[in-house]
Amino acid sequence: MSSDHPLSVPLITLRGVSKGYYEAGTLHPVLHCVDATVATGETIALMGKSGSGKSTLLNLVSGIDTPDAGDIVVAGRSLVQMNERQRTLFRRRMVGFVFQFFNLVPTLTVLENVLLPLELNGITGAPARDSALDLLEQVGLATRHTAYPDRLSGGEQQRIAIARALAHSPALILADEPTGNLDSDTSAHVLALLDRLVRQTGKTMLLVTHSPDVAAIADRVLSLREGRLVEDTRTASAALR
Ligand SMILES: Nc1ncnc2c1ncn2[C@@H]1O[C@H](COP(=O)(O)OP(=O)(O)O)[C@@H](O)[C@H]1O
Ligand SMILES: [Mg+2]
Repeated sequence: MSSDHPLSVPLITLRGVSKGYYEAGTLHPVLHCVDATVATGETIALMGKSGSGKSTLLNLVSGIDTPDAGDIVVAGRSLVQMNERQRTLFRRRMVGFVFQFFNLVPTLTVLENVLLPLELNGITGAPARDSALDLLEQVGLATRHTAYPDRLSGGEQQRIAIARALAHSPALILADEPTGNLDSDTSAHVLALLDRLVRQTGKTMLLVTHSPDVAAIADRVLSLREGRLVEDTRTASAALR
């Protein structure tokens, strides 16, 4: 679904979002007055050079960080109106993360890693276990549920991370260079899986990438240059959907 679809409901609205960091008393601006709207169910590729503010933008949308100016509305709720505790609860419920370096908990089994976001949302026991195992089945790793992450390949670890990101059924998936640490065959496989599961469940995704091949799965590409949004283009694949 595109943002200009007449029935599209925005999941994310950014209005005049600015963010900078102070270093040695000097403000280094990172994002300048970013305006953007993301429709529910859309996949957005976020591109731009290293240091252009992509991860900063994800941290603002997930409420890990707060903007210096502007407003961020996700699912009808303004993040800048929330206190830190409210933002933490919002993030737990609403957001699933996939990182470049997988970030699985090494001391927990595969199944326990996928159960974590469910537990944080108060879902435990058989219902949690059933739904985690179902997701592990969908990423093709149910048979490895008692293994520890260090026994798995990079691609397998990322598939577990995808299951974990989806476990609590968040509305929003934030994926920061999810294939940046995988070889190209594994990358294509993991990306196809992520794309399929996100679309199947109607979730909205912001996907940071340097790769035009990865960006091609998105409906739109947003490009950041020196903290400004410079391009907002529909992809060819979106036209076919
Ligand atoms: N916590 C922080 N403190 C100070 N500077 C930061 C912090 N996080 C990011 N930056 C700076 O903000 C800029 C954008 O960083 P980032 O959003 O990580 O870029 P990208 O993900 O596009 O590579 C960089 O110059 C980075 O050094
Ligand atoms: Mg980054």
